[in-house]
Amino acid sequence: MSNSQTGRPLTVAVTSGKGGVGKSQLIASLAVALKQEGHRTLLVDADIGCGNLDVLFNFRPERDLRAVLSGECSARDVLCTVPVGDVELDVLPAPAANRHGSELAPAELITMVDAVREVGRDYAVILVDTGAGVSRNPMMFGAAADRIMVVANPEPTSLRDAYTAVKVLHDAHGINRFELVVNMSQNPKDGKRVYRQLVSVVEQFLPVEVGLLGVLPADDRVMRAVRARQPTTVAYPQSAYSHSVRVLMRRLLEHNADSQASGQVRYFEPGAHAAGTGAP
Ligand SMILES: Nc1ncnc2c1ncn2[C@@H]1O[C@H](COP(=O)(O)OP(=O)(O)O)[C@@H](O)[C@H]1O
Ligand SMILES: [Mg+2]
Repeated sequence: MSNSQTGRPLTVAVTSGKGGVGKSQLIASLAVALKQEGHRTLLVDADIGCGNLDVLFNFRPERDLRAVLSGECSARDVLCTVPVGDVELDVLPAPAANRHGSELAPAELITMVDAVREVGRDYAVILVDTGAGVSRNPMMFGAAADRIMVVANPEPTSLRDAYTAVKVLHDAHGINRFELVVNMSQNPKDGKRVYRQLVSVVEQFLPVEVGLLGVLPADDRVMRAVRARQPTTVAYPQSAYSHSVRVLMRRLLEHNADSQASGQVRYFEPGAHAAGTGAP
């Protein structure tokens, strides 16, 4: 599967306003489900300084994207192929923090986006863990993707921060389509309620469209899977959480043709370059 309109990979950025809402677990579990269905999938840990896909997949990268930023090697040199359950996953591990903390300089961001684009040519789906917040890093990766998943949980603080992430991505990059994932839903109505709340605020203030891509239940087995250092779709494939991840995956793939994020920036397009595109 690839981006059906263009033949290039489908790049999905997974972001959130608030941290700890379940982005990394969703990406890890979704990647397994995609591979099990035969989709060539690349995971990019762009949660600079706080990346933890290596922890979730229980591997120890020799090098990470920091080595690419410092010019020591190419992105292909840091690509890790990790056996996870019955599949192998290709992961670009997150740059470690350095004395500048987690914030990248604009030139470094361009290097990182270019590196992902280069390696990503060989894949059908690229999942990018942008990390949380509205700093330059997650915003850049959100803006560079075809689809943007905003993960929130049912707490009002999470919803407020999801709104802020949508607003900043719209204001800075002209993105006008987002896909909400409600995680840690307590009951079937929770997801729709949270979605309606977000839409009612967005409709008042922003010319953007928000779809509801999926609702993932609160499930104790997610925590147990993390402790076992396995994605939930590997440790507990029959759990309610894993089932919902597979439903979300199907919706993501089905709606591929008509659900582009419609921003002004397409850094991952072949031949495109992030320089000079109004990146922050
Ligand atoms: N659906 C869920 N049900 C129960 N616990 C969850 C669920 N999703 C995530 N968690 C818990 O939340 C923690 C944080 O999730 P994580 O994916 O690391 O968040 P983020 O990447 O957004 O910071 C996980 O370690 C797990 O214990
Ligand atoms: Mg995370």
